[in-house]
Amino acid sequence: MIVGLPKEIKNNENRVALTPGGVTELVKNGHTVYVQATAGNGSGFSDEEYKSAGATILPTIEEVYAIAEMIVKVKEPIESEYKLIKPNQLVFTYFHFASHEPLTKAMVASNAVCLAYETVEKKDRSLPLLVPMSEVAGRMAIQKGANYLEKPLGGRGILLGGVAGVAPAKVLVLGGGIVGTEAAKMAAGLGADVTIMDISLPRLRYLSDILPANVKTVMSNSYNIAQAIKSSNLIVGAVLIPGAKAPHLITRAMLKDMQPGTVLVDVAVDQGGCIETCKPTTHENPTFVIDGVVHYCVANMPGAVPYTSTLALTNATLPYVLKLANQGWLTACQKDEELRKGLNVINGNIVYKPVADAFNMAYSPVENYL
Ligand SMILES: NC(=O)c1ccc[n+]([C@@H]2O[C@H](COP(=O)([O-])OP(=O)(O)OC[C@H]3O[C@@H](n4cnc5c(N)ncnc54)[C@H](O)[C@@H]3O)[C@@H](O)[C@H]2O)c1
Repeated sequence: MIVGLPKEIKNNENRVALTPGGVTELVKNGHTVYVQATAGNGSGFSDEEYKSAGATILPTIEEVYAIAEMIVKVKEPIESEYKLIKPNQLVFTYFHFASHEPLTKAMVASNAVCLAYETVEKKDRSLPLLVPMSEVAGRMAIQKGANYLEKPLGGRGILLGGVAGVAPAKVLVLGGGIVGTEAAKMAAGLGADVTIMDISLPRLRYLSDILPANVKTVMSNSYNIAQAIKSSNLIVGAVLIPGAKAPHLITRAMLKDMQPGTVLVDVAVDQGGCIETCKPTTHENPTFVIDGVVHYCVANMPGAVPYTSTLALTNATLPYVLKLANQGWLTACQKDEELRKGLNVINGNIVYKPVADAFNMAYSPVENYL
């Protein structure tokens, strides 16, 4: 198959969808890979490395889209890319269709086949191509939080791990899924006094088994949260109710119960945030202060660490990319239920119901095309 790797052109996106290692695997399997010049620069991979791996470098994005049977990307295509996508071309990337009507309509009009990373789903209902970015964001939440706890950055001036004779900082993690678990692990590793809350008792049992002794598990409810915020120095928002807006577990009125210089890192901001006062911010301007409480609410945290994020993402995507290249999308999706769940649009038809429902558009079950 002819595989095309365009450079990401969304603002501040430095990830790339294939590493030179991924290109090597595709070439070894008999495929031809075209890489747009400088596509890997933001993640630290040079054109020379891609060439050595067996790719051909093309100077423009137009040439990559024109020649490829399968486009592998990171972010959803932006408007200038819509017209480059061809009928029957397979596009494998994050799409997040349900929050973007113009994109959905453009992809329906393109007659391409759109396979979305975010809806590839395993039997246990986990989302293998979302997990790596949650792992990155969860770990980063503590790195950022520790930083903003420093006095010159608006924080209380407390060192996460404390020192001999001085108690460590208190960290509260709301939500014990992927983001929350990684955050708790990092905070515990730095010596903080950590509390993690979730509404799922089986999940809390599991966390209590695997996390170190300086992490307490507590049932998430309004009373427990209201008590815990009074003494917490760093609070990480990491709740998710699939397909819904995040619930506001911390309201505007609750800020006055916190100590000045408390830091809030609301990782769930991409789903509306679980802290009422959080609004999406950017890496250029990541924080704001309300009532003396520092808010960090960057909606694409992994974008700040493109090297790690690219490797984490491609570790997860490459086995699927290889399957699609080796078998073609039709056979691969007929055989592999996980990949089939990723199909959102096939040749002008929306085959993923939540996307059709989001915009009152026609829905046609995926089975009609397999
Ligand atoms: N800002 C970013 O850059 C970034 C990056 C990656 C992920 N995220 C977001 O982080 C959020 C968490 O992702 P995840 O992968 O950890 O999800 P997940 O599904 O693994 O975990 C969510 C957890 O929240 C728990 N939960 C639900 N309601 C709760 C409540 N009221 N109180 C406490 N816990 C509750 C669930 O039981 C679950 O364990 C998502 O919104 C995701 O989109 C943001």
